[in-house]
Amino acid sequence: MKNWVIEKNSFDAVDIEKHGSKFLLGNGFMGYRGTMEEYSAEQLVAVNLAGFFDLAENSNWRESVNAPNPLYTVVVADGIELNLSKLEAGSHYQSLDIKNGIHTRKTVFNVAGVNITVKAERFVSMARENIMALKYCVTADKDIDITVKTGIDKNVWDISGKHLNYIFEKQDNNYLELNCETVQLKNKLKVLEAFVGLDNIKNENLLHIANISLKANEEFEFVKFGGVYHSESLENINFSNDVNAGYEALKNEHIKAWEKIWQNSDVVIEGDAVAQLALRYSIYHLCIIAPHNTDKCGIPARGLSGQVYKGAAFWDTEMFMLPFFQFTDSKVARNLLKYRVNTLEGAKRKAKLLGHEGAFFAWESQETGDDACTLFNVTDIFTNRPLRTYFMDKQIHISADIVFAMWDYCRTTGDYTILTDGGLELMYQCMWFFYTYSAFKPHKNRYELLDAIGPDEYHERVNNNAFTNVMVKHAADIFLLAIDKVKDDNPEYFKEFNIDLSWAYDFAKKLYVPQPNEKGIIEQFDGYFKLEDVTPEILKTRELKKNEYWGGHGLASTTMTLKQADVVMMLNVFRNEYSKEIKKANWEFYEPYTEHGSSLSACAYAIVAAEIGNTDWAYKYFMKTATVDLTGDTKQYLGSQYIGGTHPAANGGAWNTAILGFAGVSFTNDTLDISPRLPKNWDSLAFKLNWKGDKLGIKITANQVKIEGITNSKVTVYGEEYKK
Ligand code: BGC
Repeated sequence: MKNWVIEKNSFDAVDIEKHGSKFLLGNGFMGYRGTMEEYSAEQLVAVNLAGFFDLAENSNWRESVNAPNPLYTVVVADGIELNLSKLEAGSHYQSLDIKNGIHTRKTVFNVAGVNITVKAERFVSMARENIMALKYCVTADKDIDITVKTGIDKNVWDISGKHLNYIFEKQDNNYLELNCETVQLKNKLKVLEAFVGLDNIKNENLLHIANISLKANEEFEFVKFGGVYHSESLENINFSNDVNAGYEALKNEHIKAWEKIWQNSDVVIEGDAVAQLALRYSIYHLCIIAPHNTDKCGIPARGLSGQVYKGAAFWDTEMFMLPFFQFTDSKVARNLLKYRVNTLEGAKRKAKLLGHEGAFFAWESQETGDDACTLFNVTDIFTNRPLRTYFMDKQIHISADIVFAMWDYCRTTGDYTILTDGGLELMYQCMWFFYTYSAFKPHKNRYELLDAIGPDEYHERVNNNAFTNVMVKHAADIFLLAIDKVKDDNPEYFKEFNIDLSWAYDFAKKLYVPQPNEKGIIEQFDGYFKLEDVTPEILKTRELKKNEYWGGHGLASTTMTLKQADVVMMLNVFRNEYSKEIKKANWEFYEPYTEHGSSLSACAYAIVAAEIGNTDWAYKYFMKTATVDLTGDTKQYLGSQYIGGTHPAANGGAWNTAILGFAGVSFTNDTLDISPRLPKNWDSLAFKLNWKGDKLGIKITANQVKIEGITNSKVTVYGEEYKK
């Protein structure tokens, strides 16, 4: 592995699924899986679209739509298709250049005693979001007649069934057009294809077919382009201009766009090449799924690697990815928050549907904000029956996570305009939801949050989950601060909120916040300490079947085993508010009980480990989160449901660990502090941060912190004002 290139020098059919995610290309509008040009649905080819959803017939849930594949290409020689998944290859190489967002492959097939080499390079343009391009080259060591078939393949991967009806096809000499309509809402999708470099072709079934007499050692090369359009992009199609620009010009501008992205987001680690690549790879993944140009969609929990988790956005975005965006690309961060504002009506509908008031954001959010999470989200592997899960109706912390994230964005960027752009209304609706959801206990003179699920999904319907209560308490405080801010900055706008808010003050003051016990441990929820004292290792020995679901009424529910960081997640989010002793006590207490059954878990343990000076564990968990999509070693099934793909929350967690954990970046309303504790094997760590309009360049070595770019903002190092 080179510093910017992920590569594989061999082929094994069992890796097809894993490599589809590992070698993913994308630009925020669409993701293109790391499959071979000749692959089809069977090998999980997908052009996965952000923010474009549909319900397939007979399906239980809506999911994101995969577009037909305009880069499909296959060579036929001696009547045999050169398909890597079916025909043994002499050699095979696949690579992803994460600096430039370029995928390549080189495969040598042997047919009738002739070695035929297929080389291909492709990219999904970071400069023109609807466009992708492919350069394809065939050579042989002896003369041979081949047929090249290239066009649009309708046969792409769909998890829950067919999403598209085809309403119109057009095929000209070097141009193909496929118009589609989604089966549920009849939304339009258009896929275009054009190629350059083939003569004497015939067009059939959306394929250009050319017979070529290939001369020994002579290259046969062509390029082709794909265009994918839906929603607003249908109004502005410029495909012939894009094609006329030519492959090399498109590639150059694409590389330039990536250069710009890396200028702000690269993190340079000296002394540890493996960690360097893993961290850059994590950043690459965040950038290929970021909504660069729209506030109409969130980031799916599996990025743009496919339809897993319905293409929906979870709390993953606000709590794991947003820090990266608000510090490196505030436009994307604002788009993500505005998307929540835009889906507020859906959150209000959800609250109402469940008999609540205010705004209860979707656990799994698609384009409208209505919850895509069903009541039966897991299938029991013993009975094959859907299991009632309470993720949708009880994971209430989501509304507080969003309020928290919005305020964090305001404080780091210094841009408070989101508040008067729907943000304050969103906060109001969320807090009204919590206030009316809570139970006031007169004898204790406090509000409690009962019947909820915290981050640890193995324990459903618990009372006073510490993470949830603390998060909601902060959201309550934030709402009051935001009210004051708007009152000062925009009195005209404030008039709308000049209403009786005494309930909000009372709630913020009296909401119960679980406290550490005499050993310093914060109980995860009421009664957690009374559960059976069992660790995941022991629980595993009790399993009757592989992939048995531990949540619901399953194995973990009556024990102390937890799915993912919960109290430790809380200590990570509110790291300025708990002492090192409390963090240490809780980290050490909860770590043995944590299964890390979610990819969201490791980074919280890594950051808190860094905080308490446990750098070995911090490093171990950092590498776990940063390599999750390189190794592909994650849970692939939840019950019988496939949950593979990329893991953007863990990717965000890798950045968070490096910057918030190892570099020790934290902030208050007006001051950014840097208190580094680098892993022993790192010589230095350098990165950029946007802080209140300043673009800071920070370099940390063993005995020095150097910061450039401070103009008006306040920055401290280990609590002391930074001086050059
Ligand atoms: C985790 C959730 C997470 C979801 C999507 C689940 O397995 O428990 O916390 O939001 O995956 O990543």
